[in-house]
Amino acid sequence: MASVPKRCIQMLREIIDRIERERNIDRESLALLLEIKDQEAVSYLHERAREAADRVYGKQVFIRGLIEFTNYCKNDCFYCGIRRSNTCADRYRLSEEEIFSCCERGYELGFRTFVLQGGEDPYYTDDRMVAIIRKIKRRYPDCALTLSIGEKTKESYQAYYEAGADRYLLRHETANEEHYRTLHPAEMSLANRKQCLWNLKEMGYQVGCGFMVGSPNQTVDTIYEDLQFIRELQPHMVGIGPFIPQKDTPFGLEKAGTMENTLRLLSIIRLIHPHVLLPATTALGTIHPLGREKGIQAGANVVMPNLSPVAVRDKYLLYDNKICTGDEAAECRYCMQRRMESIGYEVVVSRGDYISDK
Ligand code: 5AD
Ligand code: FES
Repeated sequence: MASVPKRCIQMLREIIDRIERERNIDRESLALLLEIKDQEAVSYLHERAREAADRVYGKQVFIRGLIEFTNYCKNDCFYCGIRRSNTCADRYRLSEEEIFSCCERGYELGFRTFVLQGGEDPYYTDDRMVAIIRKIKRRYPDCALTLSIGEKTKESYQAYYEAGADRYLLRHETANEEHYRTLHPAEMSLANRKQCLWNLKEMGYQVGCGFMVGSPNQTVDTIYEDLQFIRELQPHMVGIGPFIPQKDTPFGLEKAGTMENTLRLLSIIRLIHPHVLLPATTALGTIHPLGREKGIQAGANVVMPNLSPVAVRDKYLLYDNKICTGDEAAECRYCMQRRMESIGYEVVVSRGDYISDK
């Protein structure tokens, strides 16, 4: 690689320091940080971000037990393997009892946050969801319960909250209208997506938004809008991972997002939001065997091992080649612990709440 002039590195360091100081980034700096090839500058970005995370969360990584309880979905997002038009998807729903036994196993393994994630499945009416939430919270009052079940009415969100749900993950996917329309069918809207996030936040949920890195038609400008939206919303969590094509979707032949860009964006988000909960996602672990470790080293502080029963794991396929589909909950739990220890981090048995900067 051609050597980069000293003053150029100095300029990049100053840009990175400014993002941290101002907790903001301008469009040009974003473009530059996504384009640079100079490894010294990239390492500096990751180091600053990791130090920022260490100052708030120390050498600890939070774990969340992910329970993928249904892969039925009434939506038809072009990127997603469980979209309703994918007739190749082998559909399943976990029974209430199966969900509770995932929690039981998870609790024994030291999980104190359960994430119930699923497609937008009409079978799970509000009454059914409320019953499940109540029961989990009654059995595990010391655990946090996170929902990730898509766009609902205010009334539904309110009912889940009153039943005991603490957190809600709903990636905004892209903050740019036009881009949003290229990723979703006409019946979905960015306005509604954003409104859902605002509603959740106002109700008192800890909320998570996020987007895929390298989704078709994404540009530096749409990413810039994502970062601006995140600054406005001030979520407690931000989930980002690379886009990975799923062969039976309209985007099956598109290019995957890269680990490099995902890591750079994790670091940028960490510098702008030192307190935010930032997962090193399964998708990141899928595009590179050490993706999650590198994610933590770039400033992430959460991992979400799978608690779903092995019998259904290879059916919750949002994208191709997903890792861990053959592993038991305990294997993933201890695998994750080893992985984190290998880079000097400890997974902790705790709810892993957001640490406020107020
Ligand atoms: N590649 C990567 N991430 C995906 N998601 C859905 N489909 C894919 C894909 N093909 C992400 C979306 C969604 C989250 C649950 O998974 O961002 O919000
Ligand atoms: Fe699932 Fe490593 S995290 S096997």
